[in-house]
Amino acid sequence: VRIVAPPRPTDTGVIPLPEPGHPFIPPRRGDQRGPCPGLNTLANHGYLPRNGIASFEQIVSAVTRGFNMDYDLASGLTAFGMLARGNPYINKLSIGLDTPLIPPLPGKIDGPITRGLAAHGRFEGDVSMTRQDFAIGDNIHFQRELFAQLLDLVAQYGDNSTVTGPRSVVNRRVMEEFKFKRFVDSQAADKKLEYHIGRVLLSYGEAAFTLNFFANGTDGILSTSTMTSFFRDQRFPKGFYRRSAAGNLDKIGEDAGAILSAKPVPPGANAPNGTYIPDTDNFDGCSLYYNLAADNVPAVLLNTTGVLKQNVDFLLNSIHVLFSDCPPAVPRGAA
Ligand code: HEM
Ligand code: MG
Repeated sequence: VRIVAPPRPTDTGVIPLPEPGHPFIPPRRGDQRGPCPGLNTLANHGYLPRNGIASFEQIVSAVTRGFNMDYDLASGLTAFGMLARGNPYINKLSIGLDTPLIPPLPGKIDGPITRGLAAHGRFEGDVSMTRQDFAIGDNIHFQRELFAQLLDLVAQYGDNSTVTGPRSVVNRRVMEEFKFKRFVDSQAADKKLEYHIGRVLLSYGEAAFTLNFFANGTDGILSTSTMTSFFRDQRFPKGFYRRSAAGNLDKIGEDAGAILSAKPVPPGANAPNGTYIPDTDNFDGCSLYYNLAADNVPAVLLNTTGVLKQNVDFLLNSIHVLFSDCPPAVPRGAA
């Protein structure tokens, strides 16, 4: 199935969510859900197919509509997901794990490629906020103990609100403390911790997503109750409006960079004895891009022809659009 860029949204202002025709319905047996609270929420409201299996076009349309994520950012992230964990031949990606609805690629070139976004590695990685590291726990489902740590930090460092009460509003300081604590805890507990440059920046990007996309678009405020609705219930809270301007990579990158530089963490990985070994590479502006689009996309995807090749090229280009100053990445990952 040939992937075609969906139309760019013409309207990028606030709108109340969910819209009529998008009620919350909990997932049914067999429906796929995974480590992304944003995609899970969209599937629970029918912005994505409720079975959790979606095409490139469906995911881009859903995240731009439902959270006002910038079109290019949405396209690049979705393209990476499709290349890393989807089936770009039939244009389907599971937001959870393996499903018979997504067969392997033709010619069996994919090995484990079609497992879904919840599969560990390539996209899903360590030091998540509300999911445990793969080697030591549940890396897919919401973990209430981790979320409780986040709420504790809001109570210590959050902003006050006359509506929701003292220290009830999540701010950047809370994320600085939480992301650093998550690293310290994972580093100590997970002998197999892997935290290379792509994962570091993606994981800080996810903290920035929380501040930017889960905040109410009317006042820009992210209350603990709203955050709980998205993370725990995977549901739009009552009275929610999406953000008032599209959230693009510049904005996310700026917030992610600020959170990281407040309490810096070097990219690296644990040795078998549990010592953290920082990476020795010289990181430049393109390092995130190459770690994702080159290292974490299987090289076998290049040995293709026809529709699959057209789709792979389209998806690689959708990522490159976000990093147009860097020479294009060439996939070199293992199958
Ligand atoms: C985490 C995929 C859009 C919010 C993740 C993860 C994946 C993923 C694979 C797991 C990474 C990990 O923590 O190990 C995607 C894809 C998207 C997308 C392919 C398509 C555009 C969004 C949107 C939002 C969002 C629109 C917010 C509205 C988050 C957050 C996390 C996350 C907050 C971190 C969860 C945690 O650490 O506990 N996403 N996502 N994502 N995503 Fe998404
Ligand atoms: Mg993770």
